[in-house]
Amino acid sequence: MQKSFTVWAVLVCQSLGWNVYAQDMDYESARWHPIHFKPAIDTAKDEQCLACHQEIIESKVKPESPAGVKAKDSLAWYQTLEVYQGEQETFHRRHLVTPLAKKLMNLKCNTCHQGHDPREAAPVPPTNSNAGFSLRKTVNPETTCLKCHGQMNYQVMGLPSPWPESHKLFTTCMTCHTVIRSVRHQVNYLNAEAIEAAAKESPDACYGCHGGRAWYRVAYPYPRHAWPGVGAEVPEWAKNRPTESEPRFRLPKQTAAK
Ligand code: HEC
Ligand code: HEC
Ligand code: HEC
Ligand code: HEC
Ligand code: HEC
Repeated sequence: MQKSFTVWAVLVCQSLGWNVYAQDMDYESARWHPIHFKPAIDTAKDEQCLACHQEIIESKVKPESPAGVKAKDSLAWYQTLEVYQGEQETFHRRHLVTPLAKKLMNLKCNTCHQGHDPREAAPVPPTNSNAGFSLRKTVNPETTCLKCHGQMNYQVMGLPSPWPESHKLFTTCMTCHTVIRSVRHQVNYLNAEAIEAAAKESPDACYGCHGGRAWYRVAYPYPRHAWPGVGAEVPEWAKNRPTESEPRFRLPKQTAAK
């Protein structure tokens, strides 16, 4: 299996012109390739990763389980909502290549993968205290997933109840967000303009990433960028909030403006 992987990896890499990544490379060398670690991973291009990890994009879920359960008949509740479209897809495809993902987002491998250490796969012996190991993939859910899959913090918005209830009073997010916190999404992994356009088409577009697909019980503490018309007083809940996105996500023009 390892041997065939190597042969395959070499062929794929060479066909893509990435000889440098796979020349005479055996499985162990590929696995320990410096591109997996800091600092190289920070500047890695998706094509470089995909030269060896094509399965991330190519593999699709099976239409039917071995026991005969059809994928299209086993939907989770959120998959029955209007904002969910198309066939069942793998995790990576949902974030990189589905029509919705491509429209609203611009995620890269290293938006989530921050380098890993195969040696520190898991603590031995297992422990239930936080040993700081990351099971090799080094994707920190608090700085990635939670941003788009947290609860909607309706309390800080002054809404009387969660959105499924209070939307009856306010109709859409834009009732307030045309003017409030209007400087948003200026990060390299989102398509800010496309998001605003999508919100004009469907009032659910914003909710999709701000409560509508909440896999967590908590809300993400977003940076609070100054916006035209922001008052001088910082509300109590926002006192510890950053006022800018994390440096690695900022758009070049934002950095230059500083
Ligand atoms: C030269 C080929 C090669 C390149 C280029 C490469 N990888 Fe890998 N990668 C491997 C091999 C081989 C493994 C070990 C796979 C295994 O043990 O199942 C691995 C392991 C991984 C793992 C851990 C998988 C696990 O189950 O623990 C992740 C995550 C990963 N690579 C992501 C990336 C990312 C992101 C990039 C680009 C920055 C990248 N790789 C570039 C060959 C490569
Ligand atoms: C939205 C965040 C995110 C993005 C973007 C992303 N990954 Fe992952 N990736 C993950 C997570 C989370 C896992 C761990 C899944 C698990 O533990 O089962 C993972 C797992 C992997 C693995 C291990 C094999 C597997 O399927 O579990 C590889 C290899 C990998 N990713 C490569 C890539 C490559 C190459 C790219 C870019 C084309 C990429 N990833 C983009 C979050 C991401
Ligand atoms: C920048 C925003 C963003 C980030 C970061 C993000 N997601 Fe998502 N996620 C989405 C969007 C948008 C969809 C819906 C895509 C679609 O329907 O095609 C989605 C869909 C999903 C789904 C549903 C997949 C399905 O087919 O049912 C899961 C599960 C998921 N994300 C988990 C995660 C995890 C785990 C992470 C962190 C490793 C993560 N997401 C990071 C935006 C994000
Ligand atoms: C009644 C007006 C109102 C409506 C409707 C509303 N918001 Fe808000 N929202 C606010 C206010 C006020 C704030 C906090 C402003 C500040 O930072 O002082 C806020 C803050 C936010 C924040 C940042 C939260 C944080 O912790 O920093 C997000 C994200 C957000 N709103 C998304 C939405 C989405 C998505 C919808 C629709 C599903 C929505 N809002 C509907 C008034 C509203
Ligand atoms: C594809 C997922 C996605 C969609 C769709 C989306 N957001 Fe966001 N939103 C995010 C992420 C991720 C951040 C954090 C960005 C950062 O770190 O600066 C954010 C940040 C915000 C903030 C904080 C602004 C600040 O001060 O930086 C507000 C307010 C907000 N979104 C409102 C909205 C509204 C209104 C819509 C609809 C027009 C919307 N979002 C649609 C993912 C999304």
